[in-house]
Amino acid sequence: MTDTTTTSAAAGTPELTEQERAEDLDMAQLKQLVGLVEYDESKDPFPVTGWDAIVFVVGNATQTAHYYQSAWGMELIAYSGPEHGNRDHKAFVLKSGSIRFVVKGAVAPDSPLIEHHAKHGDGVVDISLEVPDVDKCIEQARRAGATVVQEPENVTDEHGTVRIAAIVTYGETRHTLVQRTVDGATYDGPYLPGYVPRESGFVKREGAPKRLFQALDHIVGNVELGKMDQWVGFYNRVMGFVNMAEFVGEDIATEYSALMSKVVANGNHRVKFPLNEPAIAKKRSQIDEYLDFYQGPGAQHLALATGDILRTVDELRKEGVEFLSTPDSYYEDPELRARIGEVRVPIEELQKRGILVDRDEDGYLLQIFTRPLGDRPTVFFEIIERHGSLGFGIGNFKALFESIEREQDKRGNL
Ligand SMILES: [Fe+2]
Repeated sequence: MTDTTTTSAAAGTPELTEQERAEDLDMAQLKQLVGLVEYDESKDPFPVTGWDAIVFVVGNATQTAHYYQSAWGMELIAYSGPEHGNRDHKAFVLKSGSIRFVVKGAVAPDSPLIEHHAKHGDGVVDISLEVPDVDKCIEQARRAGATVVQEPENVTDEHGTVRIAAIVTYGETRHTLVQRTVDGATYDGPYLPGYVPRESGFVKREGAPKRLFQALDHIVGNVELGKMDQWVGFYNRVMGFVNMAEFVGEDIATEYSALMSKVVANGNHRVKFPLNEPAIAKKRSQIDEYLDFYQGPGAQHLALATGDILRTVDELRKEGVEFLSTPDSYYEDPELRARIGEVRVPIEELQKRGILVDRDEDGYLLQIFTRPLGDRPTVFFEIIERHGSLGFGIGNFKALFESIEREQDKRGNL
C-alpha cells in the first residue's frame, strides 16, 4: 500500500508525552509500536500531541472497570463519583502503557448518560486529545467551521490547572482537547480535576505480564453512506490531519459486503483515524450493521499496540476474551503465503491463534480482531504489532470480512 502522506518530515523531533515517559517507553519503541514520525509542529494550525483519553459510556461502569483490569490487564488509577461530589455518574480511569480509558456509567436516574446509553449501547463518546495550545486549536476549528461545544476554560484543583475545550465530530462523538501545561505549570493529578487517585484490590494472575498493550495505534470511525469524504475533509480542514492511505470500494469487498475507507493522521502520526463508509454490495455490509445497532456513526474499533502479539493474545484468551476466527485457508493459500514472506514467528504459531499478517513496501504487521465488546455488534478491539508497515492491513480485509460475515450471518443480520 502506498503511503500518501503529504507532510514534510523535516524539522521537529517528536517528544515523549508525560504518559509515555511515566511508562518508560522510548522514542525507538514508539516508532515501532505506532509508526511515530517527525514533523514540524510550528507550521501546524491545530497541533495535536497525542491521545489524552478514550471515554466510554457503558451500562455498568463498576463492572466494566473490573473487566478492563481482569481481562485486559489495565490498571485502575483514578475515579470520580457521588462520594466526591459528582452525583450524576461514576467514572473509572484505567491505563495501560501510554493510553488511558475512562469508563462512565450513570448513577442519577436523570443522568444524560442514560439517554446516550439507551440509544447507542456501550461505546466511545469522546476521543480526547492532548494539545499544547487549546486556544490555538479552537481558533482554527472555528475558522474552519467546526462546532465548538465547550469553550476553552481553565479547570483547577489542588494538583494544578488544565485548560479544556471540545468540538464535535461524527455522530454523537466529540473531541475534548486537553492542555496539561498552563502558564508553565504541568497538571500533576491522576487524570483531570474532579478525579481522585484510586487503586484496586484486584491482583493479577501469577506470571501475568505487567501489561498487555503499550499504546493506542488508531481508532476507526464508521460514518454513513456517502459521508466518508466529508469527514476526511473535516479532519484535513479543521484539524490539519494528513491523508495516510486511500482505499476504494473494490479493494475491500467480498461477494456480499463492501466498504470504503480512508485514513487521516495528525502530524506525528500518534493519532490515526481510518474512516469507513458502507459501499453497495449484495447484502448489508458490516458498516450498515454497526450504523443500525449504534443508531448512527461512531467509533468502530480501537487498535491496541503491543510488541508481542502472541503473548498478548494468549493472555487475553486465558481471561476469556474472544477473537474472530480466521479460516485455515488463509494460512494455506500459496499466494498469500508468498506475499507474507518472512515474519518473526513461524506461520503455524500465527495460525494456531488466528493472527493475520499483512505486508507492504515498508514492512509488515500482525493483527487480530476481537468479537464485539458489549451486547450490540458495534465496538470491538484490534491487537496490532507493527514491523515497519504503516498500513492497516488492507490485504487482510477480505479474509477478515469473510470471517466477520460468518458471525454476522449467525446473528441473522447479513
Ligand atoms: Fe484497524
